Amino acid sequence: MRLRNVRLDDVDAYVRMRCDPVMMAELGGPVPRAGIEDKVARDVREAEADESWILIVTPDDSDEVMGHIALWTHEQVSEIGWIVLPEYQGRGVGKWGVRTVLDRAAADGRWETIHAFPAVTNAPSNGICRSVGFTLLGAGVTDYNGHRLVTNHWVVGPSG
Ligand SMILES: CC(C)(COP(=O)(O)OP(=O)(O)OC[C@H]1O[C@@H](n2cnc3c(N)ncnc32)[C@H](O)[C@@H]1OP(=O)(O)O)[C@@H](O)C(=O)NCCC(=O)NCCS
Repeated sequence: MRLRNVRLDDVDAYVRMRCDPVMMAELGGPVPRAGIEDKVARDVREAEADESWILIVTPDDSDEVMGHIALWTHEQVSEIGWIVLPEYQGRGVGKWGVRTVLDRAAADGRWETIHAFPAVTNAPSNGICRSVGFTLLGAGVTDYNGHRLVTNHWVVGPSG
């Protein structure tokens, strides 16, 4: 597998990831289709400016989208998130992508402690955190896209 920056032609993959009720069941529900082109354009700009790492997981031999890993900073907190398309779930794609991004982040040095906030009921996402070496701090409430989610708080990195 490989990681590449998000591109403007990833709109269809974003629609499959963000506008689908099953994919977004643990993230407060689907987002409106109308905003996706703007979201992709913002993500492409942020990735190209190297402000955030907004990455697509692909097979070695094609640009096909398997999954999506994002690492960004807000209010001085570095947060990582991930989504894997249904046909690739349960095959180690999420784990490989997250582990690879964490390795790159440790080498880069700017991200300090990295936080993840999967819903407490999201078994595969909590599985990723557990299996790539995050430490569980506890549960809390996170605001995500206007929804209040009951989430676990995981950390990895210098003080994690
Ligand atoms: C969550 C998601 C990214 C997981 O990606 P994935 O590629 O299917 O996960 P992996 O195959 O890499 O598995 C990662 C770990 O979780 C474990 N796991 C996977 N599914 C699991 C399940 N249903 N219950 C418990 N553990 C599970 C795996 O065993 C693995 O751990 P291991 O290496 O110790 O065995 C993917 O299911 C997804 O995109 N779901 C919808 C969107 C979403 O919830 N995004 C995350 C928001 S925080």
